[in-house]
Amino acid sequence: MKILKSIALMSIATALLLAAPQGKKDAEFKGIIQMGKKSSKLLLKTLGTNMKKNMKDGGVMKALDFCSQEAYTLTEQVNKKLPKGVRVKRISSQYRNPANKPEGNEAKVLEALKTLQDANVILPRQIVEKIDTHTYKYYKPLVIKKKVCLKCHGNIQDVELRRAIEERYPIDKATHYKMGDLRGAVVVTIKK
Ligand code: HEC
Repeated sequence: MKILKSIALMSIATALLLAAPQGKKDAEFKGIIQMGKKSSKLLLKTLGTNMKKNMKDGGVMKALDFCSQEAYTLTEQVNKKLPKGVRVKRISSQYRNPANKPEGNEAKVLEALKTLQDANVILPRQIVEKIDTHTYKYYKPLVIKKKVCLKCHGNIQDVELRRAIEERYPIDKATHYKMGDLRGAVVVTIKK
């Protein structure tokens, strides 16, 4: 009886020992997701609120000025608010601003999301890429859900607006989108 009991205890202890690293990994992963969610939300909220305000104040031309002059600066301001080792940005394989061109594996991840979407898969809220033992990339897919996005990313009818976009972005790739299309992703790089 005693022997059986100690065998049982030992196996429980072994199971706990084995479980400990897994538990730690799960907690770390949860932390990554939380940080990714929080940072991507902060960026999208900051850009969205300001875009709405500009659109309301001065229509699509003012909103364009905002996007082209301030989206980048505002992203930097959001980055300053995030903890050390965390950075957020937007990417697209059909980018308007070359600064938003995907780097490294990012293009592959976007392609994979596009393939999933083309196969009628409902996209996940997030994808996490492990870069190395300390670094992760959190991706939030960006799908065109609002008609307002098409004003500047769809088939642009407004000639004045089209010219203004071409002037600012001579190699613009970010037009001809439709509702529901994958526009790109928010990427949060998290260094532990
Ligand atoms: C008033 C015009 C305008 C509207 C409306 C607009 N955008 Fe943009 N968008 C731009 C401009 C200009 C840029 C380039 C910003 C820069 O220079 O960083 C851009 C860049 C982006 C990028 C970064 C990748 C890239 O192409 O450079 C994403 C993602 C994006 N827009 C998504 C959206 C979504 C989603 C909506 C709707 C909620 C939207 N946009 C509405 C003008 C607009």
